[in-house]
Amino acid sequence: MLAALRLQIEWGADEALEDAPVCRVAVRIAQPMPEARMLAQDAPPSPFSIPTMAPVQRAVERAEHAAQAANSLDELQAALANFDGCNLAATATSLVFSDGNPESGLMLIGEGPGAEEDRAGRPFVGPAGLLLDRMLASIGIDRTHCLMTNLIAWRPPGNRNPTDNEVALCLPFLLRHIALVQPKRLVLFGAVASHALLGTKAGITRLRGRWTEVAVPGLEAPVRAMPMQHPLTLLRNSAAKRDAWSDMIALRRDLDDLK
Ligand code: URA
Repeated sequence: MLAALRLQIEWGADEALEDAPVCRVAVRIAQPMPEARMLAQDAPPSPFSIPTMAPVQRAVERAEHAAQAANSLDELQAALANFDGCNLAATATSLVFSDGNPESGLMLIGEGPGAEEDRAGRPFVGPAGLLLDRMLASIGIDRTHCLMTNLIAWRPPGNRNPTDNEVALCLPFLLRHIALVQPKRLVLFGAVASHALLGTKAGITRLRGRWTEVAVPGLEAPVRAMPMQHPLTLLRNSAAKRDAWSDMIALRRDLDDLK
């Protein structure tokens, strides 16, 4: 029994969501899944299917419409809360939207909530967040001087990486978030957020520390952005902290030049 429990934890089933177990296979057979639930499985298309718009595309279009219709941060948060196209909402405890100061001009973008963020409903409150707070404090920044958010708004079960479909479904909301906030600078933490916003698959060790630009629909000019290693990576790999420190100094210098 203990070994079975340990295996479940290893596979990411580390939280009880219901009082009684639910057989998801039986639920699926009983109720046809909405489009995005099917997509979340990233099933290859059948060679015999009639070519219609793929369910993932339909769900992404719904995400784009919902995001674009939001004219304030409150409306955007409500649009995310009402969006039923992303399977992650079903297993997460909270929608994790943002924390900090939207007027600050600096927007920090992580990958997605972990267990602590999921419980608190706020980004970067777990171990990675504590390290991030310390890194920011070292260059004179606290949560009143920046706005923190994530590419993915709901915790992927067991902190697994989000699938390409989940990224595609959440990206329209993040782009709208950036358009509404109109930050002067973006910091992209980790490969997943950097790849989604920069449209590249280059490794984060190559991308980090270099200023680049992100084009955002609705903004007249691209936003200057710097990819950095994710604080979670720094917790596991102390050697990467040296580069992270030099990236922090580069960020401080750039923010000083803006004044
Ligand atoms: N990692 C992230 O990318 N975001 C969080 O909010 C927490 C951990």
